[in-house]
Order: sequence, then C-alpha cells, then structure tokens
Amino acid sequence: MAVERTLSIIKPDGVEKAIVGRIISRFETAGLKPVALRMTHLSVREAEGFYAVHRARPFFADLVRSMTLGPVVLMVLEGEGAVARNREIMGATDPKKAAEGTIRKEFATDIEKNTVHGSDSVENARIEISYFFPESAVHPYEWKRRS
Ligand code: RTP
Ligand code: MG
Repeated sequence: MAVERTLSIIKPDGVEKAIVGRIISRFETAGLKPVALRMTHLSVREAEGFYAVHRARPFFADLVRSMTLGPVVLMVLEGEGAVARNREIMGATDPKKAAEGTIRKEFATDIEKNTVHGSDSVENARIEISYFFPESAVHPYEWKRRS
C-alpha cells in the first residue's frame, strides 16, 4: 500500500473535551504519524472556504458555526493508506452509526459535534493540506542534524 498524507482536524468539541492527546495517540498507534501540527481558531471565512464543497447543503451554516465555536488542532497525518485508515479510526459521520472502538463512537456528541475531520480522498487531502500548511511546514521524520 502506498504511503499517503491526509488532513486531520480535531474539531472544537474535541479540544473542549480535553482529548487531544488521546486522539493523537490513536493515530500514532495505528501507524499514522503527525508530520505537521498546529492549533488555531478558525474564522467564519476560513471555515466556509474549507467546507466550500458543502456550501449548498442545508447543514452548511450549522457546520460553519460548530467549526468556529472554539480552537481546533490541524494535523497532517502520514502513513500507509493514510486517507482510508484515518476514516476507519474516526468512524461514521453520525456517531449513532459509528462502529465500536472508533473516535466518533467513543467521544462525539452528535453529528455536528463529531470531534474529528478527515479528508475523504487522496486528491481532496492534497487540496485540504495545502489550505492550511505550506510544504515547508510539513516535516516527515528523518535523522538529520541541521546546521
Ligand atoms: P468531515 O468532512 O468533517 O470529516 O465529515 P464526513 O466526511 O464524515 O462528513 P461530510 O459529509 O463531509 O460532512 C461534513 C460535516 O458536516 C456535518 N454534517 N452535518 N446535520 C447533518 O445532516 C450533517 N451532515 C453532515 C458533520 O459535522 C460532518 O462531519
Ligand atoms: Mg467530509
């Protein structure tokens, strides 16, 4: 399987629940390494731009509101089959339908406060990563002393 990168977001409800470390630990245990990571508080404009594909959906305003309620953690995860693996670890969008052992089953409040975001394809991962991180901010691990 190919090594891929995917964008993961710990949404405001995940930060508020103080489970950032537990979520990152699940990814690392599953072989997905953070190669870029930062915390921010999305503006309405940033959230609207990020979720632009959903602009026409009835839940768009609620989605933007829930993504701007508080700070988020943005991460690029790298590993074999990272896009699909991340989605497996997250679980279904609606926590009521999420499988046992997934992040959303264990921690999500409802479909809006569903704790994590993950890219849904390799192509969208590329677009989403570049929305938040320039390539110079992505750091795959290597033993290499800098001068
Ligand atoms: P995400 O993009 O956040 O990783 O979630 P997803 O792929 O599992 O779901 P998607 O269809 O892309 O929807 C994006 C987010 O919109 C909210 N949503 N609300 N009220 C509703 O019917 C509804 N449907 C979707 C969710 O917070 C979902 O994560
Ligand atoms: Mg999605």
